[in-house]
Amino acid sequence: MDGAVFRARIPRPEALGPPLQENYMVDLDKIISLCKRRGFIFQGSDQYGGLQGTWDYGPLGVELKNNVKRAWWRRMVYERDDMEGLDCAILMNRLVLKYSGHEETFSDPMVDCRKCKKRFRADHVDPNEKCQEGDRHDLTEPRPFNLMFKTTVGPIADDTNIAYLRPETAQGIFVNFKNVLDSTNRKVPFGIAQIGKAYRNEITPKNFIFRVREFEQMEIEFFVKPGTDDEWHAKWVEERYNWYIGLGIKTQNLRKYAQKPEELAHYAKATTDLQYRFFPDRPEEEKQFDEVEGIANRTDFDLTCHSKGGKLVLKGGREIPNEHAVNKLTWFDHETNKHLIPYVIEPSAGVDRATLAFMIDAYCEEVVNDETRVVLKLHPELSPIKVAVLPLKKNHDGIVNTAKGIKQTLQKKSGWRTVYDDTAGIGKLYRRQDEVGTPFCITVDFQTLEDKTVTVRDRDTMAQVRVAIDNLPVYLADKLGNC
Ligand code: GAP
Repeated sequence: MDGAVFRARIPRPEALGPPLQENYMVDLDKIISLCKRRGFIFQGSDQYGGLQGTWDYGPLGVELKNNVKRAWWRRMVYERDDMEGLDCAILMNRLVLKYSGHEETFSDPMVDCRKCKKRFRADHVDPNEKCQEGDRHDLTEPRPFNLMFKTTVGPIADDTNIAYLRPETAQGIFVNFKNVLDSTNRKVPFGIAQIGKAYRNEITPKNFIFRVREFEQMEIEFFVKPGTDDEWHAKWVEERYNWYIGLGIKTQNLRKYAQKPEELAHYAKATTDLQYRFFPDRPEEEKQFDEVEGIANRTDFDLTCHSKGGKLVLKGGREIPNEHAVNKLTWFDHETNKHLIPYVIEPSAGVDRATLAFMIDAYCEEVVNDETRVVLKLHPELSPIKVAVLPLKKNHDGIVNTAKGIKQTLQKKSGWRTVYDDTAGIGKLYRRQDEVGTPFCITVDFQTLEDKTVTVRDRDTMAQVRVAIDNLPVYLADKLGNC
């Protein structure tokens, strides 16, 4: 292809200047604004003033979030030989959450301010901060507040038919352990993976989709022989860390944090959190990081407390014998000829937090032709739109029909989310696609009508190459990989 001819037909050659700042990190406000403006995420129940702690994923957000879940399922289920999937009900029998310990222990410390009458999570409020009623808050002593959403099942609402919306997807996996074992002939070690909604009545939901009341989790309960649990725990920390890095998260923004003994949940022998730099604008670097995923060694705690004849042992040693379960949640170990309760390693990630981390990490501002270009340099597997087909002229039948034909073919034959857009000039159309992370734009111009080639523009480098229409599926498949 003759570059001079090509350039003459693209109205605005793009010259990439340096990034605005080396290691630029966007703050949450810019992400929130982009999310609303471009249809990634909206406030839940927006039309009626919102509902705190809930968010709705818009046209691009649902694609991005689905891609995050698909990338997890692909690596954690399909590409392993030791994993099964599961999808349990969100409404759970009260007894599941009684014997798991959630009824007794799933609470946060809550305080009230006697002056402004506001309620806070005790560890989220600074008693010295200014109270809107003047001077400092006047806080009550902390008291526990159970985070589970309670409801009743059936036409009569009383204490006999209480049910909970699950506060984690994990419990559905534990109580299905025997069902999965018996129906698949799996042997320990193996895992069960689940993606789904979880609900927590957070005292202070905040920081956009970071802490919300309705969210999604991607959880694995990986069952191992007692005694091999430490080794498997270490393996899973690496496996999960590498998943984020493999999908583009920069190593300087993700760290492993081993919880101190006093920080561990009642069920955990050890937990390593993967923490992402969600809050880069906080002055202290230590406070810029927060949890995107926890990888816990839950020992045999859960299968014991849900087993017939088992018991829940609470912190401090109080025991609640299980008087309701119908099965023993054991597996027969042919090496020892014994029924054993496996230990469990649990990598538990938040879909919403992972989605937010991928967006923050991908956000970039660069100078192009003296203007700021916003680009979401998302891994192509995560990009909401893989290809945008853009006509150079929108009132030319030959160009428009060719562009629409390419869109249809790529969407149907290659299965990529492909869009057609003719609602602005080509420069503006490129910017719009850059901002939402579309890895490739295809431009159909007059030359296309002569030689059946199109321009393919790369989002990150802005390099443009001429490709024959017939070669597009192969050319793009090579670049898009697993999409
Ligand atoms: N089954 C273990 C468990 O649920 P967790 O640390 O409470 O552990 C796991 O939750 C992950 O779920 C967290 O790392 C976080 O990504 C996500 N998560 C928890 N609470 C959340 C909330 N209120 N809003 C958004 N994501 C949340």
